[in-house]
Amino acid sequence: MLSPKLYKNSHAYDLFMRVFGFEASVERFLRSANIPPLENGSILDNGCGSGTIGIHFLQASKQTRLLSTDLEPNFLDAAIKKAKRRGIEEESMSVGVANITAPDQVETLDGQKYSLAPETFNLVCIGAVLGYSQDPAESLRTLIRLLAPGGFLFNLEMCETALGKYVCQRYHYNNISVAEMKAILSDEGCSVSQITMSLRYFPSCMTRTALIAKKL
Ligand SMILES: C[S@@+](CC[C@H](N)C(=O)[O-])C[C@H]1O[C@@H](n2cnc3c(N)ncnc32)[C@H](O)[C@@H]1O
Repeated sequence: MLSPKLYKNSHAYDLFMRVFGFEASVERFLRSANIPPLENGSILDNGCGSGTIGIHFLQASKQTRLLSTDLEPNFLDAAIKKAKRRGIEEESMSVGVANITAPDQVETLDGQKYSLAPETFNLVCIGAVLGYSQDPAESLRTLIRLLAPGGFLFNLEMCETALGKYVCQRYHYNNISVAEMKAILSDEGCSVSQITMSLRYFPSCMTRTALIAKKL
């Protein structure tokens, strides 16, 4: 049985993701996603969990910086540990607390608050977090505003299958539909594609789907 309590312990969440093959299947999928590697770029991973998505894209890039944010500092700790295990240089990655309701408002772990400037990032990643916003549509628009022209938004979103909907219900995850997300992304000047994950990406294909938007 899935338990929302998993979120209370980031290390249990990370272990769960690894032992049951979620992390490996997500990474297999990320390798196949058509996101060009960055050089001298900047990545934001909002609602980073144990850090998998942002760290993957950071490792695929050169001289690029990653800002990983989450509502829960214990997840930031898990993300830092993952980055260390993977040999990522400390100066390439920073972390901060941010609520997906206002993803451009960040607080460092020592309590310094700052705002992210528009058009700062070349890649914004999110995964199964938008539905925790008090206003998912506005959060998505804010994330697009943080993207530099030509930048990508990658959303490894909960899918709309019966199982996906069941997991959303268990985790009190109330997102807008994929169709609404696509409409917002187009309205914000992005080209959008959706990739349905095939069985090659089991088990994450059971609950996730990918939206990739390029800011024109
Ligand atoms: C399902 S996990 C997804 C983690 C990662 N993005 C992924 O795709 O594997 C959801 C994450 O969102 C975080 N979260 C929950 N509510 C949030 C909020 N209001 N703002 C930001 N992050 C939140 C949780 O702490 C957790 O790390």
